[in-house]
Amino acid sequence: MVYYMAPLEGVTTYGFRKHYHDNFIPFDKYFTPFLVPHQKRGFNEREKKEISSEYNGNLCLVPQILSNESEGFLETVRKLREAGYREINLNLGCPSKTVVGKGRGSGFLAYPDKLDRFLDEIFKDPSVEISIKSRLGVNEAEEFLELIPLFNKYPIKEFILHPRTQKDFYGNTVNLKMFEMAYQEIKAPLIYNGDINTAEDAHFIEEKFPNLKGIMIGRGIVGNPCLLELIKGEEAISYQRIYSFLQKLLEEYSKVGISEKQVLHKMKEIFIYLERLFPDGRKSIKKIKKAEKFDRYQEGLTEIFKVC
Ligand SMILES: Cc1cc2nc3c(=O)[nH]c(=O)nc-3n(C[C@H](O)[C@H](O)[C@H](O)COP(=O)(O)O)c2cc1C
Repeated sequence: MVYYMAPLEGVTTYGFRKHYHDNFIPFDKYFTPFLVPHQKRGFNEREKKEISSEYNGNLCLVPQILSNESEGFLETVRKLREAGYREINLNLGCPSKTVVGKGRGSGFLAYPDKLDRFLDEIFKDPSVEISIKSRLGVNEAEEFLELIPLFNKYPIKEFILHPRTQKDFYGNTVNLKMFEMAYQEIKAPLIYNGDINTAEDAHFIEEKFPNLKGIMIGRGIVGNPCLLELIKGEEAISYQRIYSFLQKLLEEYSKVGISEKQVLHKMKEIFIYLERLFPDGRKSIKKIKKAEKFDRYQEGLTEIFKVC
């Protein structure tokens, strides 16, 4: 069973991936948050950081593209190939209204004919392998039944399925019945994604789907960076390493020429998920979330880790 870190725009960005990889049991693969094709010749500064090994370290990274136009997709693929990438992930999962409104992400699933033509075009490019990260559909999980034969026409490197619809957003429970259908019918190697927050959650999926290729984890690993270690048999959470990871991340983001406020914003995004590790640290978490300066942030951080 392989384990992948999910792309989380604004959270599992380059610094997070690199320092996670260096400080904890590594994932087998990491994915960039989505890149949107644009007219510029090269990549912009933010995109360069997401894909360059200088900022990512030595890990297996797959860039993700969000697009419903084969031309733009293939042009971005060409640039990524120049940067050395041979595997690309297509985002068919993003549920955000602005993305879906443009018929992209999970919104693309509502247009099977257009999706079919798009896949037909992009799979003609022999220079890269393409994996897909998808939801079940837009409104109803059953929409996926019609998409299965479409996906099975193409040599998809891996199919990562988050068994929710766009309409579910992150609510409702994951639809394991429909995932089981994918498990039986999707030809590509299948990766499960969604709501893995404890070792028990992962073991449950591993046992229920013994031939699954792997599991992708997003919010769960941000909420507890030791989660993969617990899944692999470690018994205790190393608060010391989580503390040191957060300090390295703060240093990393402070180096790249963004303001104190922007650096703290990045750290606060992590605490949206990480706060659940500190149920007794509410007051200090509040201090972290309100911090406008590094010293207030550090005060809150020291307090929560002292309790541990
Ligand atoms: C803040 C946030 C940003 C996300 N950004 C992306 C993204 O850029 N690309 C993508 O494919 N999925 C994105 N996702 C979805 C996650 O990769 C993942 O599919 C989802 O969170 C379910 O998995 P989890 O329960 O393990 O977090 C994002 C999710 C969140 C919460």
